[in-house]
Amino acid sequence: MAIADIEKIIEMMESVKVLKNVALKVFQMANDPLATAGDITEVVEGDDYLSALVLKVANSSYYGNAGKVKSINEAVVLLGFTGIKSIAVAASLMVRKDDGTVKKTEIIVRERLWRHAISTAIAAKFIAEQMDFKDQGLCYITGMIHDIGRLAIFQYDEKIYHSIENYSREKGITLTDAETAITGLDHAQIGAMILHKWAFPDPIVQAVAYHHKYFEDTPDRELVGIVTIANFISNSLGFGSVNIPVMDPRVLKMYNLDYDGVKKLIEQISGILSHIDILSLGL
Ligand SMILES: [Fe+2]
Ligand SMILES: [Fe+2]
Repeated sequence: MAIADIEKIIEMMESVKVLKNVALKVFQMANDPLATAGDITEVVEGDDYLSALVLKVANSSYYGNAGKVKSINEAVVLLGFTGIKSIAVAASLMVRKDDGTVKKTEIIVRERLWRHAISTAIAAKFIAEQMDFKDQGLCYITGMIHDIGRLAIFQYDEKIYHSIENYSREKGITLTDAETAITGLDHAQIGAMILHKWAFPDPIVQAVAYHHKYFEDTPDRELVGIVTIANFISNSLGFGSVNIPVMDPRVLKMYNLDYDGVKKLIEQISGILSHIDILSLGL
C-alpha cells in the first residue's frame, strides 16, 4: 500500500462499513453548530447499542456519577458532544453480538482493540487524577479513541493489518515502525488525520498524533503525556499488541516519574482493571 492510499483509509473510515449509520448521524449532528443536546439525544436513542454504551460510560465511576444518570439526555449533557462522538467511534470498534456473520478472526482483533482502548481510557483517567489534571473526562475519551488508526488499517485491509503485526514480530521492530515500512504512515498519524477530518478538538488530535513519539513542542502536552503513559501501562499489563516500545524517559521526567513511580502506577492500575469486566462495557 502506497502513501497515496491513506486517503482511501480515510474514505473507508467515513463509510458505513466502519461507523454504523447511527454513528455517522451523531457525527453530522455534533458538528452542526445549530444542533442541540435534544437533537443528539434523539439520534442516540434511535440506536439501542449506542444508547446502552453512552449510559454505561456516563454511569461509570470515571465520571463520578455511578448509577445516577438515567436518561440519554442527561448523559449527552454530562459527556458533551465530543464525549458522545468519542463513544460513537469506540462503538465502531466492537462487533455487535447480533451479527452472526462476523469471522472469528475479526472478533478476536476487535476485542483486543476494545480491551486496549478501555484499559487505556481507565489508566488515563487514573493518571490524570494522580497528576491533578483538571479535565479527567478528556483523558478518558482520548484514551478510548487513541488507536483508532489501527481500526482504520484493519477496516481497510485485514491482510495488511496482520502482515504489519507479523513483520513487527519477525523483525523485532515496533508496531509503528512496521506500519511505516508497510503503509508509509503509522496508526498514530492515520488516527490523527481521521479525527482532524471528523472535527475532533485539537488537543485530542495532537494527543493521538504524538502518543508514540516525543512531543516537546506540542501544545496541550499534558494530555499527550498522560495518554502516552496510559498507553504504555495498558500494553505493559497485556492489553496491547506486539513489540511495545520502551517509555521515553523525557516523558516520565515531565511528571517527575522514576522507575518506582511507574511501577507503582502499573500496580495501582492493574488493581483497578482486575475489578472490571472490560468486555461487558462493550455489551
Ligand atoms: Fe498506538
Ligand atoms: Fe495504544
